[in-house]
Amino acid sequence: MNEKIRIGIIGGSGLEEIFKGKKKKMKTPYGDVIVNILMLEGKKVAFISRHGEKHQYAPHKVNYRGNIWALKELGVEKIIASNAVGGIKEGIKPGDLVIPHDFIDFTKNRPLTFFDQEKVHHIDMTNPYCPELRQIIIEKSSKYKINTWEKGVYVCTEGPRFETPAEIRMFRLIGADIVGMTTVPETVLAREQKICYATICTVTNYAAGMQEKISSDEVMRIMKKVVPIVIGIIKDTIGSIS
Ligand code: HPA
Repeated sequence: MNEKIRIGIIGGSGLEEIFKGKKKKMKTPYGDVIVNILMLEGKKVAFISRHGEKHQYAPHKVNYRGNIWALKELGVEKIIASNAVGGIKEGIKPGDLVIPHDFIDFTKNRPLTFFDQEKVHHIDMTNPYCPELRQIIIEKSSKYKINTWEKGVYVCTEGPRFETPAEIRMFRLIGADIVGMTTVPETVLAREQKICYATICTVTNYAAGMQEKISSDEVMRIMKKVVPIVIGIIKDTIGSIS
């Protein structure tokens, strides 16, 4: 078990139990984290279910620091994540994938950094998502019958409630393409730990005010349909990581 694990996967809503492996309970300064260790495409990888194995942690309760800490501890250098999102930009529709290149942070009350001790650190977020890893994911997704947006700005809200129509109008005005509740601080913490990070966002609904109402059931229903493709893209991406 001393061999380093270079690749991590963080599964979001609907991807709780897709990769089962040898379960390892890891102690971190932020609490215990369950990691599944398994082989994919001939490589040893570490899988964490962001919301817990039973989807028990709401977006504002996820142990983001513990999860990233655990992956770093195992030696992870690249993380492929997944998120469920609502579509804001015209043309983005449920069932599409978006590989975001940037985000806007509208979270309100979560620990956002590992650097809250004595020393002041400011990390560069010019490219918040790893461009090389994004490129591989985009390339791999072209093999599948799914509409993939190669860029997108993800606005991250605090949740757990969905947004109001007025909030979505504001987010559209300031340049957001998709909305979700979990890319911040995960992306930031990965960067703080110098881990290359990219995510596959599945659009599960039109954002608030663009359809009659939004429900978690709908999010899960659309997610379940797309999961086999997301799994395929993750595996193909792992196969191509050198
Ligand atoms: N808003 C926030 N998070 C989401 C949404 C949404 O519309 N859909 C899936 N996750």
